[in-house]
Amino acid sequence: MKKIIAITRGDGCGPEVVNEGIKILKIVSEFTDYDFEFKDAPAGGEVWKQYGTNLPEKSFETIKKSDTLLFGAIGLPDLPPGVAESAIMKIRQGLDLYVNLRPAKLYDVLREKCPLKSEFIGSGIDITFVRENTEGLYKNVGSLGEDSAENLMFYTRDGCERIIKFAFEFAKKRNHKIVTSVDKANLLNTSKLWRKIFHEMSGNYSNIETEDIYIDAFTQWLIRAPHRFQTVVTGNMFGDIISDEGAFLIGSLGMGSSGNIHPGKVSMYEPIHGSAPDIAGKGIANPIGTILSVKIMFEESFNSSEIGNEIDHAVEEALQEGRTVDIKSKSLETLSTMEMGDLIANKLKSKLKA
Ligand code: IPM
Ligand code: MG
Repeated sequence: MKKIIAITRGDGCGPEVVNEGIKILKIVSEFTDYDFEFKDAPAGGEVWKQYGTNLPEKSFETIKKSDTLLFGAIGLPDLPPGVAESAIMKIRQGLDLYVNLRPAKLYDVLREKCPLKSEFIGSGIDITFVRENTEGLYKNVGSLGEDSAENLMFYTRDGCERIIKFAFEFAKKRNHKIVTSVDKANLLNTSKLWRKIFHEMSGNYSNIETEDIYIDAFTQWLIRAPHRFQTVVTGNMFGDIISDEGAFLIGSLGMGSSGNIHPGKVSMYEPIHGSAPDIAGKGIANPIGTILSVKIMFEESFNSSEIGNEIDHAVEEALQEGRTVDIKSKSLETLSTMEMGDLIANKLKSKLKA
């Protein structure tokens, strides 16, 4: 099975973590029928400095002609906010990647790294955020003046239906008992439409329980009783915020993974963290967010939950032997980005060989 994977390394620690993602893909191709061809698609702040655009036409063409995109992180501290980052928006909008899938699963071995007291963690954390990824405030419609500024929050029925349907189908596939919808229907028109559609569509999934929670209350329940959530579906801006909260609950932002997906089309897989200029070049960034994004790539783009599971188990086993500094443990060796990647790659190798 030949697959072309576009690679955007990006800025800061992006290239370091992407290398470890590629390492995992190479192990898979060595021990299975997959055959990967990697094609560079540079984007971000360094590229902007060189070419005056954060996403050169050639890069976007490469991405469009590939099966998927593995993306590191972009952003540079000496550029104004957004100058590099807007490349992500161009890709999401340009490829109509309407699903942003962001799991927040706390491995048992990392329980001590969760900032919550054990009584709040309860039976554990295994939540998948399904964030709408093309509409809402991210339509980028508005104006910026000296004395006032505005952004339009815009949702369509089609836009709500397709993301809510994805969330219910995802929950069904994972045997989730409940889908939670997060909105602000006590204030926003867009949320009133969203909630109406959520209820209409829940009728097609009578075996799945549903609940609605306002965004402000949800941020509280997420730290108070995270174990009650499974699939959580929400709009673009709210999803941006609560998925960062979720990523921190699993031990470190460096563990957060994501897929920007249009089912059946070219999709983009990226860690949740940014370019982390403070640690860039030191070889200490946690590559697990990227490696788990590769896991989502197998599940969602290559329809291979088996390989996804093997990657997941390889990560879990590796975490019992060594850790990067952000999740370090006194009794375990502290590893560099590359060493962490090697350890996971070796675990995966023995699984795929078996
Ligand atoms: C994310 C990021 C982006 C977003 C930024 C970089 C524009 O925070 O992927 O969550 O807001 O979507
Ligand atoms: Mg974000």
